[in-house]
Amino acid sequence: MSDPAGRGLETRSLTVRYGGLVANSEVSISVRPGQVVGLIGPNGAGKTTFVDAVTGFTRCEGEILLDGVRIDALAPHLRRGSGLSRTWQSGELFGNLSVAENLLAAARKSGWATVVRDLFGRRRAGAGRDVVDSALAVVGLEDVADTLARDLTLGQQKLVGVARALAGGCEVLLLDEPAAGLDSMESQAFAARVRSIAEGNGSGQGPGILLIDHDMSLVLGVCDVVNVLEFGKLIFSGTPAEARTDPTVVAAYLGAPVEASHA
Ligand SMILES: Nc1ncnc2c1ncn2[C@@H]1O[C@H](COP(=O)(O)OP(=O)(O)OP(=O)(O)O)[C@@H](O)[C@H]1O
Ligand SMILES: [Mg+2]
Repeated sequence: MSDPAGRGLETRSLTVRYGGLVANSEVSISVRPGQVVGLIGPNGAGKTTFVDAVTGFTRCEGEILLDGVRIDALAPHLRRGSGLSRTWQSGELFGNLSVAENLLAAARKSGWATVVRDLFGRRRAGAGRDVVDSALAVVGLEDVADTLARDLTLGQQKLVGVARALAGGCEVLLLDEPAAGLDSMESQAFAARVRSIAEGNGSGQGPGILLIDHDMSLVLGVCDVVNVLEFGKLIFSGTPAEARTDPTVVAAYLGAPVEASHA
């Protein structure tokens, strides 16, 4: 792979303390362009804390680099501006707004002037709308741009959440339990879409994606690399095949040996 070390996201000994609780302890993870990287672990292991720290919503020690440049001193909106985007675990859309309006509200490169122009004037022609349309195209939902968010299926809503994070482009996308609530068929379809986003939908390399989820088959099936957190510590980092048989992972998270369904 032509994937120079240093591109994408890298954390070095990222540590987060909430009073006496060490919610992340020296966590070093990288997410390279085009990769899907899993982050799993039991409830309270520190997965959301990791995303909060990386995106600037909670204080941390250690280093955070994007494309080799330290970003850990930047405010959250500047990290977003430099290409780091995320979804939220409680990733609700605004049900009474259309899908396009939900995305416009978050689009990275749309200044207020563009948003206002698009909402009240040239609804389909503005630059902001272009950003929306291309983000929806990435998740395969061009047809629902003008549908109210509340009228979408849950699977579509999840994908719109991803599109909202993608709007305006990003280098690295952090997805915090984006498939929660989907049934297994919807999860598989969702996973396939995540994979294809990382692969640039066939047009070359897409963003690096960090995927947090409790659904092991989803994570092991779609990720290139899996990281396992326990009590804030990274206890495993390796391929899904390695995770399935690693005694530490099996004991700490999988609970029982997982059948070797990998090729
Ligand atoms: N803002 C906060 N202040 C104090 N403690 C916090 C805060 N946020 C999280 N914690 C604690 O940090 C630990 C890690 O929480 P976190 O939400 O990161 O876990 P998680 O792995 O995302 O869990 P889940 O799978 O339930 O989403 C937990 O013990 C949690 O109670
Ligand atoms: Mg969480």
